[in-house]
Amino acid sequence: MRTLRLPLPRRRTRTRVLIGGLIVALLAGGLAVAGLTAASGPPAGSDAAAPAGTPPADVTYRDPHVPVDARVADLLARMTLDDKIGQMTQAERASVTPDDLTRYRLGSVLSGGGSAPTPNTPASWADMYDRFQDGALAAPLGVPVIYGVDAVHGHNNVVGATIFPHNIGLGAAGDPDLVERIGRATATEMRGTGIPWNFAPCLCVVRNDRWGRGYESFGETPALPSAMTSVITGMQGPSLADPTSVLATAKHYLGDGGTTGGVDQGDTELPEAELRRVHLPPFQAAIARGVGSIMVSYNSWNGSKLHGHRYLVTDVLKTELGFTGFVVSDWNGIDQIDGVPGLSAADVRQAVNAGIDMAMVPTDWRRFIDLLRTEVEAGRVAMDRVDDAVRRILTKKVELGLFERPYADRSLTASIGAPAHRALAREAVGASQVLLRNTGGILPLDPAGNRIFVAGSNADDIGHQSGGWTITWQGGSGPITPGTSILAGIRAAVDPSTQVTYDATGTGIDSSYRVAVAVVGETPYAEGEGDRPAAMGLRDTDLATIERLRAAGVPVVVVLVSGRPLDVAGQVSGWAALLASWLPGTEGAGVADVLFGVRAPTGKLPLTWMAGADQQPIHDGDGQSPLYPYGFGLTYPSAD
Ligand code: GLC
Repeated sequence: MRTLRLPLPRRRTRTRVLIGGLIVALLAGGLAVAGLTAASGPPAGSDAAAPAGTPPADVTYRDPHVPVDARVADLLARMTLDDKIGQMTQAERASVTPDDLTRYRLGSVLSGGGSAPTPNTPASWADMYDRFQDGALAAPLGVPVIYGVDAVHGHNNVVGATIFPHNIGLGAAGDPDLVERIGRATATEMRGTGIPWNFAPCLCVVRNDRWGRGYESFGETPALPSAMTSVITGMQGPSLADPTSVLATAKHYLGDGGTTGGVDQGDTELPEAELRRVHLPPFQAAIARGVGSIMVSYNSWNGSKLHGHRYLVTDVLKTELGFTGFVVSDWNGIDQIDGVPGLSAADVRQAVNAGIDMAMVPTDWRRFIDLLRTEVEAGRVAMDRVDDAVRRILTKKVELGLFERPYADRSLTASIGAPAHRALAREAVGASQVLLRNTGGILPLDPAGNRIFVAGSNADDIGHQSGGWTITWQGGSGPITPGTSILAGIRAAVDPSTQVTYDATGTGIDSSYRVAVAVVGETPYAEGEGDRPAAMGLRDTDLATIERLRAAGVPVVVVLVSGRPLDVAGQVSGWAALLASWLPGTEGAGVADVLFGVRAPTGKLPLTWMAGADQQPIHDGDGQSPLYPYGFGLTYPSAD
């Protein structure tokens, strides 16, 4: 279950403990009894003008034959202040009920990473989605809710969904058409659970490999993320009204990959010209592709929080770049503006006036509603600003066809984890592999008449090869969801005449084996939990495994499953081959396709590979001497 962030302390480390809806309701109830500030729903009489019951289908805003802007204008004119503020409010599924959607007219619900119904099945997701929709439609104006998830490498919260390689691997593949097809497959699986809004793609430009979110980036230059905005076209399709389309979200605006020291949610200390040169182009490309929403980043720019940055969010993004979709905050990101834990009037006022249209306030959504209502009534947030935000949100809901088709399309549920999607994921895994070393042309391996010893902590672990944002927010270990481990892929690839032996630590290896494959690397992480401020080498257990294999006199092929380059310069000369596998997801057979030459490696480094951690940050053209340069990658035949 996705953990809830408590108000973020100044330091990176934080404990996120999800407080269930019941506890929050009790707290709110207690505050109400105490006469404190808990929201107790729209004040009596505030909806006197609202019509009772969902309006008839022939009302203008419900007529699909009327132009979108006219429908939105009609609906906006019928809305009370509480209707409008409700549309600007997004709550987390575990902290809200369908009845709350009715009462508070909430515009959106999200699943934080790993926040899933029980049982975690596609049908259960679709049922949950439909129940929230029932609640939204029962409100006086019957505005459908828009439900959002992080489907950042497939519909990754759902057990059984196809898990694609994380973005860093897709950057290595360097194929915009492939990425567009992945976007379409992901969108189809999402709509199989009803969900029409994806908080993806991350278009961050990773400039420091210490950052815990580098694997969510397509690469270290603006060119790669800009090219891979093709995923937006895949997700949003030819029309948002297509039943298999979802609203995409370009995130995180702006500069999240450029913080000093690679600190997650840190400070991006750059002159404006460099901020624009490095970090803005992917968002310009996303806007050119019609991206429907943009998420603001946690980081600061030269000490000012992006969540309160009117110049960047309104003057640059909306006015200069002409972004017409809506801007959503990040999880409790508004809370960070004033630097004091706990949502304040100042936080809310500054965020909305900066240009944030929808507030991701997972549990504190009642307080957000109360604070914003007070700010508007006091004239500190203009009604025009509220109307602009609501107009942007409603426009996307109408374009998505949510008024006509608010419920899950159950005919799409079977697409989740479908063979065609898994085949696409396997293709992407193969295309993302980067061959960095191949002594004597030891690769590709002979699938017949061979004796292969497989070892390593990441050889037989779907969770490790999938990385963070998989079933749970941080990801996990073991068979967390159906898929093919790298070991299983190897076993399936060989001829019966070949013996494959596996032991995670390499125990049992002897000189009778012709080759050893050590699948090593990182264990899953997400966000700040993945920051690496110190050493960036392999874990001792992996180093010991590799040495055990080498001590038997067997050539070792190292397959590195990680979200970033690691500091391997001190060991790599003893390895026969090195294959950067990144975070391949559920279709590990794609790695075997390259190991056995079913397809040649074509991946190219999307990141400069350090010769030592002391080189960080390191990137193309900075004058440093890396172990492997940006864009490097061997193919077959190759022998270095
Ligand atoms: C997280 C991430 C963001 C994600 C959001 C909702 O903190 O920063 O990428 O979309 O919360 O899960």
